[in-house]
Amino acid sequence: MSRFYLTTAIDYVNSRPHLGTAYEKIAADVIARYKRLCGIDTHFVMGNDEHSQNVFRKARELGEDPLAYCDRMAAEFLDVWKRLDISFDDFIRTTEARHKAGVQELVKKMTAAGDIFEGHYEGWYCVSCEAFKQEKDLVDGNCPIHRTKPEWIREKNYFFRLSKYTDRLRHHFEWHEDFLVPDVRRNEILRLLESGLEDISVSRAGQAWGIPMPDDPASVIYVWVDALINYLSAVGYGTQPTTVDKWWPADLHVIGKDITRFHAVIWPAMLMSAGLEVPKQIFGHGWVNFRGEKMSKSLGTAVEPLEAAQRFGPDPLRLYLVKEIAFGNDGDFTWERFEDRYNVDLANNLGNLVSRIAAMAERYRGGRLLGPGQPGRLAGIAASCLEDYQKSMDAFALEGGAAAAFRLIDATNEFIAGTEPWVLARDPGKSDALSQVLFDVAESVRVAAVLLLPIMPASASEILRRVGEVKKVSDIRLSDASWRADGERVIAKADALWPRTETSQRSTRVEETKNPGAVPASPAAPVQPPAPAPGAMTPAAAPTDGKIAIDDFMKVELRTAKVLAAEKVSNSRKLVKLSVDVGTEQRTLVAGIAEAYEPEALVGRTVVIVFNLKPAKLMGIESNGMVLAASPEGGKPTLVGFDQEIPPGTRVR
Ligand code: MSP
Repeated sequence: MSRFYLTTAIDYVNSRPHLGTAYEKIAADVIARYKRLCGIDTHFVMGNDEHSQNVFRKARELGEDPLAYCDRMAAEFLDVWKRLDISFDDFIRTTEARHKAGVQELVKKMTAAGDIFEGHYEGWYCVSCEAFKQEKDLVDGNCPIHRTKPEWIREKNYFFRLSKYTDRLRHHFEWHEDFLVPDVRRNEILRLLESGLEDISVSRAGQAWGIPMPDDPASVIYVWVDALINYLSAVGYGTQPTTVDKWWPADLHVIGKDITRFHAVIWPAMLMSAGLEVPKQIFGHGWVNFRGEKMSKSLGTAVEPLEAAQRFGPDPLRLYLVKEIAFGNDGDFTWERFEDRYNVDLANNLGNLVSRIAAMAERYRGGRLLGPGQPGRLAGIAASCLEDYQKSMDAFALEGGAAAAFRLIDATNEFIAGTEPWVLARDPGKSDALSQVLFDVAESVRVAAVLLLPIMPASASEILRRVGEVKKVSDIRLSDASWRADGERVIAKADALWPRTETSQRSTRVEETKNPGAVPASPAAPVQPPAPAPGAMTPAAAPTDGKIAIDDFMKVELRTAKVLAAEKVSNSRKLVKLSVDVGTEQRTLVAGIAEAYEPEALVGRTVVIVFNLKPAKLMGIESNGMVLAASPEGGKPTLVGFDQEIPPGTRVR
């Protein structure tokens, strides 16, 4: 069985995780879960970077012992990762003995190779970056990243002969085009290599917080050298050689774009010096900004990941970050957009689909669906979505994986609208057709849920349970996303997975909805959003966010109209053409009520219409308004009427 060793950057613990650092862990978790879904033996490691001066200073500021402070922060980090459903296999802290052993072992190897030498260092040091800065890189004397003044440092240091590895690194990049992805990161590092590398300081003098140099306890190892070695010490380097043999070299380091130089230059050079293999691949993801601003605790623009996860649960947050941000690019988080996507993707689309199939299965088949033995029309789409999904996920285009799963969900919603199971249910002669439609929908939802398992693990598992998947979730593999046309499915009905929420951007959301909208003059949906209505014609097109203001309601001009003439629209089962008197003029309307009313019975009736609706063409006839009717699921529409004569054109409100 193939294996996959995957890591994230290890976090500084001078503050709690923010949504940016959490984004990296979520993205890596999606990759780890995908690899497991593919049946690959996966080892996913995360951790905390504790030997930073900032961590030490923060502990002192709070009057805490630095190690006790790190213990407390580790508990906080682990709690956040647990609540975000991050499935790491190991969590390493750089204050652990196993890590110290690994660091000292590797530095000894580098020393034995003649690559560590003594010298003096003088220059600017940014403690937040934990890096020396050149005068030319400062902006108004400040670190360009942290906007704080670096410290001037002059001390005895040990140096690493990084310059010696310039050519080997260049060759490595030449021969391994995918060593650092995406290309934009690779190109940055290629430029750096072209200009040649300088030796770097790898120790700090006069500090006690850190791992001592093997032969000089008065110096501690530079925090970046210390931190990078976590990728090895976590798999037993310096303590358990057999596990190192199993997992090293790492298959993928997932890191942010700001730390590619450490990972793609210094780290491989250290490994080359110690005679070890370099990691197979490094992925430098982009930044998650907040309202276009860099997310940072010190700048006050950090979003608390637990607050975001508590808004709707961890899965909607995971989906937002994965689906809305192309992995590798920068992305933005705003509360409005987050809520908006929640309503579109989850409340209206996937959540409603899951409710609809459960309700229809119960109503028409007592909750039990029997496989028809032959794949229906959705099977081909499901296969193509699976193919797209796999291609994207294998290339770490996580947003493409999410999009492929949602393409299938959209197609399934459209399939329901097109096949109208509630109409099939009225005709006993169409019973087999109804069985096939219901089973196909359930199967399609099952396939989509398998694809969503890495992205939304808890919700996808729940959906699988609801659509009658009997396999244990941990046993499900990507091959289970192939279409199955046989067997019985016991469909479970339960509460809506994602109730709609109010947002301030209703119109954007509705426009973005992919489900086809209600046609004007069809039996009208009420202005208020329906509860998730299984079997309803077009739930996603109705206003969806709960309550509306009176002003919004008043924009819809409802008026009475008297039917002057009515005739069936040829080639349509449902449509009838009406000529109506609206008080000020005569208008033509097309209404979807032909199955409920004979045209003759309509003449002379007073109906309610949406008077100020944009005209739309239906079967080639321009309809100038929409007739209101109550439309019970699976039943016939009933016109809204009056118990006494009302003049045409009267406003209804
Ligand atoms: N401790 C170092 C990494 C050592 S790895 C051997 C470090 N820590 S960090 O806490 O500052 O950042 C941890 C990770 O989060 C890094 O990969 C960093 O790029 C990433 N991010 C920090 N802010 C981020 C965003 N706003 N958006 C996305 N990722 C961000 O660097």
